[in-house]
Amino acid sequence: MSAAGNFHVAIIMDGNGRWAQRRGMPRSAGHAQGAKSVRRVVEASVRAGVRTLTLYAFSADNWGRPSPEVDALLRLLQCYLASETRRCLRNSVRINVIGRRDRLPASLVRAIEQSERATAHCTRMRLRIAVDYSSKHSIVEAARRAASGGLSAQSFESLLAEVDHSVAEVGPVDLLIRTGGEQRLSDFLLWDCAYAELYFTDALWPDFGEAGLHAALEDFSNRHRRFGKVLAETA
Ligand code: IPE
Ligand code: IPE
Ligand code: MG
Repeated sequence: MSAAGNFHVAIIMDGNGRWAQRRGMPRSAGHAQGAKSVRRVVEASVRAGVRTLTLYAFSADNWGRPSPEVDALLRLLQCYLASETRRCLRNSVRINVIGRRDRLPASLVRAIEQSERATAHCTRMRLRIAVDYSSKHSIVEAARRAASGGLSAQSFESLLAEVDHSVAEVGPVDLLIRTGGEQRLSDFLLWDCAYAELYFTDALWPDFGEAGLHAALEDFSNRHRRFGKVLAETA
């Protein structure tokens, strides 16, 4: 795969609920299993040389789920940050939670800030976890802050990063993976995926793992990215 420079992988981690339901378990059990998959895929990404990994953990629309499920998801996230921050430090992974913070429980916001502070010096990989994230909201909010025109795409990107609490210049998404069989973006990184290669797999997120990541990277390595130009060999 192309581990070059700024390689950015984003993943829509879908299918936890179905994974649990197929086993006669509650959906929350699928989310707990999904968290284990996050750990495996984060570590596999570090080993594969991914520079930035952005994971969709909780969308702004996920607030519409039954409140016990929402509570379970937010609790899991807090547990993840508590248990994985040390592991990320060991692997030199910088944690950054992107998305809105004004609707999250205060204890979760504190946990986020703590993990971000503790790993701020880590340079091997950036792990961005999208929580209460909506691309459309980010774009509208950045546009509102931009207000009176004269704005380049680059400065708009900086505003988007500011809205999202994104701490580093991460660049556009190179490879967008969605597990769980659906082929849609569900309001994730609409701006950043302008030229992303899209990879959809039927694997449910808890089953994805290191092998799933490698299959996606292998597929990516066979793509021909043109960015609106013509390939050198056909020019
Ligand atoms: C993805 O799994 C996790 C979140 C959206 C938080 P789902 O919970 O959407 O699982 P399915 O799609 O219902 O199987
Ligand atoms: C997208 O999955 C959000 C996350 C993976 C966090 P959803 O399951 O919420 O998306 P839809 O409803 O199928 O579009
Ligand atoms: Mg889903």
